[in-house]
Amino acid sequence: MSFIELASKRTCCRGYQSKPVHNELILRLLKAAQAAPSAGNIQPWHFYVVTDGALIKSMYKPVYSSEWTAAAPVLIAVCVDAKSSGQRYGSRGEDLYCLQDTAAAVQNILLCAEDLGLGACWIGAFNENNCISALNLPVNHRPVALIPIGYPADNPQKPRRKPMSEIVTFIGNGSN
Ligand SMILES: Cc1cc2nc3c(=O)[nH]c(=O)nc-3n(C[C@H](O)[C@H](O)[C@H](O)COP(=O)(O)O)c2cc1C
Repeated sequence: MSFIELASKRTCCRGYQSKPVHNELILRLLKAAQAAPSAGNIQPWHFYVVTDGALIKSMYKPVYSSEWTAAAPVLIAVCVDAKSSGQRYGSRGEDLYCLQDTAAAVQNILLCAEDLGLGACWIGAFNENNCISALNLPVNHRPVALIPIGYPADNPQKPRRKPMSEIVTFIGNGSN
């Protein structure tokens, strides 16, 4: 599959089989995350990989409201150490770069999951404080995204995108 086919095929998966995900595959997802770009190569991220099914289930309601997330065999909590970016880049590092860095890492995980035949979803709507308590996170690790991962239970349909004409403006004549 070409990269553009992979990127076009990737879609959020909101239903998982109970089949476990082999550690080897989890490691590949983490390598994809590690390869993401970050401002100044600061890599202000930390990834908590939860494979304890009871813990994932116990986070349903206090942390996230979707039952399908609770059913995932793997949950990666992507955390950011904003201060590490702030030390180098001030408020632009702390408020912007570090979040862009983690977003790039999340996207790499999602694309890698698709490549490995796994389903995954980017969860931004969760209770941050309850997540910190559930995973016992240190103060310098703010959770910014949760990614449930597993084998897809069905064939999720990718939602339509806006047309190019609406989202792109070319400036200049381009080259042929
Ligand atoms: C920052 C961000 C936060 C998101 N939060 C959630 C979420 O809390 N729950 C959810 O089901 N999907 C969430 N999504 C997934 C989007 O709904 C999804 O990416 C969008 O509808 C496009 O669908 P696709 O990813 O399947 O192409 C989030 C995506 C992003 C980028």
